Amino acid sequence: MNAKIVLLPGDGIGPEVVNEARLVLDAVAKLFGHTFEYSTHLLGGCAIDATGTALPEATLKACQASHAVLLGAVGGPKWDDPQAKVRPEQGLLAIRKGLGLYANLRPVKVIPSLAKLSPLKPERLAGVDFIVIRELTGGLYFGQPKGRTKTATGEQAVDTLIYTDVEIRRIVRLGFQIARCRRKQLTSIDKANVLESSRLWRQIAIEVSKEFPDVKLDHQLVDSAAMRLITHAAQFDVIVTENMFGDILTDEAAVLAGSLGLLPSASLGEGKLGLYEPIHGSAPDIAGKGIANPTGTILSAAMLLRHSLGLEAEARAIEAAVSAAIDEGCHTGDLGAAKPINTSQMGDAVRARLKR
Ligand code: IPM
Ligand code: MG
Repeated sequence: MNAKIVLLPGDGIGPEVVNEARLVLDAVAKLFGHTFEYSTHLLGGCAIDATGTALPEATLKACQASHAVLLGAVGGPKWDDPQAKVRPEQGLLAIRKGLGLYANLRPVKVIPSLAKLSPLKPERLAGVDFIVIRELTGGLYFGQPKGRTKTATGEQAVDTLIYTDVEIRRIVRLGFQIARCRRKQLTSIDKANVLESSRLWRQIAIEVSKEFPDVKLDHQLVDSAAMRLITHAAQFDVIVTENMFGDILTDEAAVLAGSLGLLPSASLGEGKLGLYEPIHGSAPDIAGKGIANPTGTILSAAMLLRHSLGLEAEARAIEAAVSAAIDEGCHTGDLGAAKPINTSQMGDAVRARLKR
């Protein structure tokens, strides 16, 4: 097949890890007889420096005209001034919203040979394999009113947690659909004992569950779910939750896998177009050194093949090559190696193990 892929390397280690993932995609294209056409665009801090805005119009247009988008990371100390009017993260939020990508899929799996990297006891990690579906374009991140106002005595700030039934229904439904293809257990996470928006969320989850009698739905409050993610992680199959809860819980969940550098994500909307990125950030402390772990981005490229291009065999080929490389001891510094390999060696190790 022929596909147009937009690359958004972004800031920090973004360009280094995206480059490796692109080389993996090239290797897949050669092996399976596809043609991937790439174009590279600005997003985040580099876009602010070049154009004054974190999401230039040209970037959004190119993404809209593509089949899929592969993103590195945005942000860094250079743009971190809390007084700044434009911030790299605004680019990320605007591109999610601009492309209508309301569903963020974050799979978490513990690779047995890496279980020792996690601060948790190995018995807590056995069999951990779940996916978090985070609502991505609603809730506190986008709700209006939002902002600061002066008061008689000082200042106040407001963010609004708002969800419509339509927004809840489409994300919960996706949760059920994904659960149906896995172990058929959906956990909806909310704070229905306090928040009205969560009570609507729970009501709709129960309504939608009638369409999926084969999937078992349970509800957990976000505070106890945060605890159970550590104490009983293996019990989760599919989790669906609102934007902010999902943001927090997925960083927590990443601890299970042992390194943030390993985990991919996909952001999807109504059509096939999706945005794929590792869940780690721009890691300014190691940027430019060529030592970042490209695995999260390479696995994001596998998700891109699966969800946007419908290339399941190709996606699996990447995932198998990554597992083989890691199991055979190809480890970057974050994986606790005594003699770590660098970013491009890790990419090479994956490419060398790609098989049809
Ligand atoms: C994430 C990040 C972003 C978010 C930030 C960088 C805006 O933490 O993708 O989880 O909060 O969504
Ligand atoms: Mg986050």
